[in-house]
This record gives sequence, structure tokens and C-alpha cells, in this order.
Amino acid sequence: MDLRLLQNGRFRKLKVAMKITDVLRAEHAVFHNLFDHIEAVLPRTQTLAEVKSLATVAEKLLAPHAKTEDDLFMEPLEHYFDQIGQNELFHEEHKQIDALLAKVHKARDLNTAKQVLQSAIAACRSHFDKEERIVFPMAEHVLKTRTLAELGEAWLRRREVSK
Ligand SMILES: [Fe+2]
Ligand SMILES: [Fe+2]
Repeated sequence: MDLRLLQNGRFRKLKVAMKITDVLRAEHAVFHNLFDHIEAVLPRTQTLAEVKSLATVAEKLLAPHAKTEDDLFMEPLEHYFDQIGQNELFHEEHKQIDALLAKVHKARDLNTAKQVLQSAIAACRSHFDKEERIVFPMAEHVLKTRTLAELGEAWLRRREVSK
């Protein structure tokens, strides 16, 4: 990321490296707000269409986040996930969350849709918690700061391309 710094009356360009783990944590912070919102409004939601539209918002926002983790982050860590027996599990959890959100759209009654969306949000929270407690610290432990910063740059390029 380029920042401009005013020094002695002149702007200097500064390269600021953002670690991929910081990027993902920042995205998680937004998701925690979204999950709080969904859980707060869900009990008083009165139509199936409203519940489905909440599921759509979660799906649309989660898709690029999970893709970043799968494409940029999981591959360099694959070997370490294998060592702690978690490799399949993390890929699997993304799929389980997608499947639960897809199931909301298939629900035919309000209560079923609410229950399925509630369990999708609970699955997200538990998955995010695991990433924050285990995966991100492990990445910062085993990958070099430079690698984390290069992955952060790769994330930024992907976001610029998708604008
Ligand atoms: Fe994830
Ligand atoms: Fe995540």
C-alpha cells in the first residue's frame, strides 16, 4: 500500500506493508458486526423473504473472504495444518457454512428459515473464533513477516482488480 508523507514541505511515497493476518482480522471485525445485527433482527423478522435476504447479504460478503483464505492463506499453511490434523477441517468448514446459507433459500416456512440461518451464523462464529485463536497466530508464527506482507499485497491487488 502506498501512503504519502509530507516531509520538509515535500510529499514522499511510503510503502506500508499490511500483513494478510491483519487484513483477515479487519474483515472479521466487520463480520462480527454483521452477525450481531442478524442475530438481533432475526427474532422479530416476519417474512421468509426478509430472512432469505439476510442470508444473501451474509453469503455475498463471506464469499470473497473465504476465497481469500482458501487461495492466498491456506496453501502456504497447508503443511502446518496437516501437522495439527486440521487441513481438511478448515476447507470443510467453509463448505458447511455455504451449505447452511444455501439451505436458508430452500426453506419453505419462516421458522425453519430462521433456525437454519441461526445455525449458519453460529457455525460462522465458531469458525471465525478458531481462525482468530489458532490459525492467524499460527500463520504469524510459521510464516515470515515478509511473506505475510506479500500475501497482504496480493489481497490488495485482488481487491483492486475486482473493483
Ligand atoms: Fe475461514
Ligand atoms: Fe476468516
